[in-house]
Amino acid sequence: MKIDGNTGVLGIIGDPVAHSGSPSLHNFLAEKLGDNLVYVPFPVKPQGLSAAIQGAYRLGIRGMNVTVPHKQTVLEEVTELDDAALTIGAVNTLVRIRGGYKGYNTDYSGFMRQLDHDSVIVYDKPVIVLGAGGAAHAVIYALEKIGASEIYLLNRSRDKAEKDFGKRKNIRILDFEDWEKIPKAKYICIQCTSVGLAPREKECVIRDEGFFELIQTGVDLIYDPRETVFMKKVREHGGQAYNGLRMLMYQAVSAYELFADREVPEEVLEELYEQLDP
Ligand code: ATR
Repeated sequence: MKIDGNTGVLGIIGDPVAHSGSPSLHNFLAEKLGDNLVYVPFPVKPQGLSAAIQGAYRLGIRGMNVTVPHKQTVLEEVTELDDAALTIGAVNTLVRIRGGYKGYNTDYSGFMRQLDHDSVIVYDKPVIVLGAGGAAHAVIYALEKIGASEIYLLNRSRDKAEKDFGKRKNIRILDFEDWEKIPKAKYICIQCTSVGLAPREKECVIRDEGFFELIQTGVDLIYDPRETVFMKKVREHGGQAYNGLRMLMYQAVSAYELFADREVPEEVLEELYEQLDP
């Protein structure tokens, strides 16, 4: 990587950020594509968010990703907001515009690109979503945009799910224990909780074998471990299962495409995926 007087700076703001895989993904893309860009981590505490964004603008920073705990609060700091980010209620990408930054959400577009890559057809199909946190908001936005026929949303805190999704006609909210109320059929199921993530990789939000009989295609947003208990059970019951590595990659790629104002060619995507999963 050659840094000179014209190098554009990109970065990720969060707390913590040291563990983030984003710098290596974005720097790989910049290098492969020959873009004069560098991507660095910026640890920012909640009380410093506003000043950090103003400072970034003054320093000429071209774009930033935003991670925990700022994805919602950063909505207050943007100059413009993409419609999808507004509906989802979270921003993970800031792109420099005149006077500040425009906020986008590439988690939802990353998820759509993963479905597309894995040929998971959601249009007019019923879908089960496990979890109602930040990731689930982006997933549900994508599922509705693609045209899922109905969504069964199961969450530990039912009141939280009711508050955010209770008024939506096509979304039925249930407790995990009530999974048997889901009509018997074959479903696409998206696992959006943090249960099963290393080091607690032996866990799964639902363990009943009968539940897995309902699943034809399961996508777990977790990618560490590469095969979660959820995925294993889907496969044991004859379904197809995918982890969240492609979504991770595609949300970064979609952000990079906004930062660099170019498309990342297919062959570079496959090389990038190789880096993630050698
Ligand atoms: P993210 O941005 O990754 O979605 P989040 O917004 O904190 O993170 O959401 C985490 C999700 O995992 C939520 O649906 C959460 O359930 P609650 O809404 O009840 O908090 C779910 N989750 C986390 N730990 C859980 C556990 N031990 N059992 C069941 N669900 C859990």
